[in-house]
Amino acid sequence: MKIFADTAEVQEIQVLQDLGIIDGVTTNPSLIAKSGRDIREVLVEICSICPGDISGETVSTEAEGMVREGRWLREIADNMVVKVPLTPAGIRACKTLSQDRHPVNVTLCFSANQALLAAKAGARYISPFVGRLDDLGQDGMELIADIREIYDNYGFDTQILTASVRGPQHVLAAAKIGSDVFTAPPKVIFQLFNHPLTDKGLKAFLDDWAKTGQTLGRTDSKRR
Ligand code: E4P
Repeated sequence: MKIFADTAEVQEIQVLQDLGIIDGVTTNPSLIAKSGRDIREVLVEICSICPGDISGETVSTEAEGMVREGRWLREIADNMVVKVPLTPAGIRACKTLSQDRHPVNVTLCFSANQALLAAKAGARYISPFVGRLDDLGQDGMELIADIREIYDNYGFDTQILTASVRGPQHVLAAAKIGSDVFTAPPKVIFQLFNHPLTDKGLKAFLDDWAKTGQTLGRTDSKRR
């Protein structure tokens, strides 16, 4: 399962990249606005930090505008992926860009039928927003399971990119269903490390080790 960082904060991306645990990054207009930076400048930097797929989103509401913006985004770096919304214009732009061999991430997906349309338009990724569905009292993970079933039924190679992930339980559920990717804010990715028994166990090991008076890594490990 691939892990994408859902952020436009370059320092956070660098930390995750140095840990070797991310395979890509997703951004959206709200995340770019939150960074307070110029979109081209920040995407250039992200693409150079992380060699995986980096999604940058179009803002036009017309297919022609999305295609034009998508081509502009693709000139930023080879690892840019064009993100378009799941509207008729977005699906049309997805088809045009995909036919021109530009990778597309279709975003703002809230139903399995929408995901079917994105796959038929040649999307590399479909981004179903599980957290926003949960917020409405629906079960976001049911949508991931439905999309997985439909894509497997017909052999679509569009990758399911579980988005709007709010915590480790979303990650676990998406992984068990077979989502290809999840994208989450760095805070959530760091939460995946946490378990109180790991902290407790490590403390006990280190306390016991200190009692031996030995130094690991010396030829003579005996007490000094
Ligand atoms: C995905 O690409 C989106 O940027 C993101 O996951 C949306 O998450 P939110 O619902 O927490 O804003």
